[in-house]
Amino acid sequence: MQRGHWGSRLGFILAATGSAVGLGNVWKFPYTVGNNGGGAFLIVYLAIVLTIGVSVMLAEFSIGRAAERSPVGAFSKLKGGYWPAAGFLGVIASFAILSFYSVVGGWTIAYIFKSASGLFATADAETLGGLFGGFISSTAEPLVYHAVFMALTMGVVLGGVHKGIERTCTVLLPMLFIILVILAIRSVTLPGAMEGLAFYLVPDFSKINADVVGNALGQAFFSLSLGMGALITYGSYLSHKENLSRAAIWVTLADMSVAVISGLVILPAVFAFGFDPTEGPGLVFITLPAVFGQMPAGVVFAVLFFMLLTIAALTSSVSLLEVVIAYLIDERKMRRAPAAIGAGTLIFIVGIACSLSMGVWSDFTIAGMNIFDFMDYSSSNVMLPVGGIAISLFVGWVILPRATQEATSQGTQPFVWVKGWQFICRYVAPIAIAWILISGI
Ligand code: TRP
Repeated sequence: MQRGHWGSRLGFILAATGSAVGLGNVWKFPYTVGNNGGGAFLIVYLAIVLTIGVSVMLAEFSIGRAAERSPVGAFSKLKGGYWPAAGFLGVIASFAILSFYSVVGGWTIAYIFKSASGLFATADAETLGGLFGGFISSTAEPLVYHAVFMALTMGVVLGGVHKGIERTCTVLLPMLFIILVILAIRSVTLPGAMEGLAFYLVPDFSKINADVVGNALGQAFFSLSLGMGALITYGSYLSHKENLSRAAIWVTLADMSVAVISGLVILPAVFAFGFDPTEGPGLVFITLPAVFGQMPAGVVFAVLFFMLLTIAALTSSVSLLEVVIAYLIDERKMRRAPAAIGAGTLIFIVGIACSLSMGVWSDFTIAGMNIFDFMDYSSSNVMLPVGGIAISLFVGWVILPRATQEATSQGTQPFVWVKGWQFICRYVAPIAIAWILISGI
């Protein structure tokens, strides 16, 4: 059977950008900044993204295109031995991430309808916090939306690589970007926004510790979709003409800008309305309605915004599911439809536990975290970095000449940073990630 392929060069870049830009940027990034002391975290985050992040991304693209197989198959085709284990880790990480990601995706769908109904026509922190807390801790309602989100994800993946994934990204991502900029302008000009801007942009270096660096690394991997083979998979559907280094730089910069702008939307508003920046996962869902409440035609903006966020979440969740599907298709010879439906259903079931852990099951903890937080922490802060070490070591030491050929399109593409990239893959990324992982434990 012929493997799927992207329809065009731009299509691949857009699909990879669609994978990267998602809830990680708009939902997770602002509250992670809030929990980790603001500006100092931002600097560490940006430094990691622009060195390790972009390099590991290029490494993933290169592995994928060199092998044209799912991550598990790619490692065994290019080298074998124990390496395919890194691919399996990716499949497990995909389950862990998608299970809670889909729950949050469900929240964004719910918020389309809730904002349309005018439920949020207030800027009162307590009311908005109560609405959100009541919603996510209830039993049935979030599960219904979680089911809808997972069904949409399966639907796109069923459509296949080109029609399903690529088309969705082409129009909608630019729109999300424009709305975010409008919101950022509104947020930064709110009375009392200065305090939030200072918190976000003026680094207090005394706040940097091992935890902050570890969280910045986890956030970088999560946001760029690195460490579990999602971008190996996307690279494997790519024609040999594409300039991989340019694609990696573009995707990294696009993802980074959306995150930075989301911070500009959320954090000034948090301070202007007297919310608490360490509020956690509710931060966006509580703060944004307050911002919309302060805008002309706020309801229209709110509905549009949550629609676009849902779509951004979808273009990311499909890349998570696609890792499992590619494995089942390439290595287990399954057809796309049963693979997508089977894996999607299993992940949906794990997600039920994540959703209930916000309410009736909140007393059940693993390592002091509820199930939702445990899935998040174990994937972002452990599995993705471990995958990142494996990927950079593999490229840096095992298939360097081959990977370099791919990264430079058999040497036909100018790639001035090739030496720096190789150095980062061989030394900087593995050592830095390992150091951060160990000092976090
Ligand atoms: N990057 C996406 C976001 O920011 C989430 C995501 C999609 C992801 N695919 C991934 C995270 C692969 C880690 C690995 O929302």
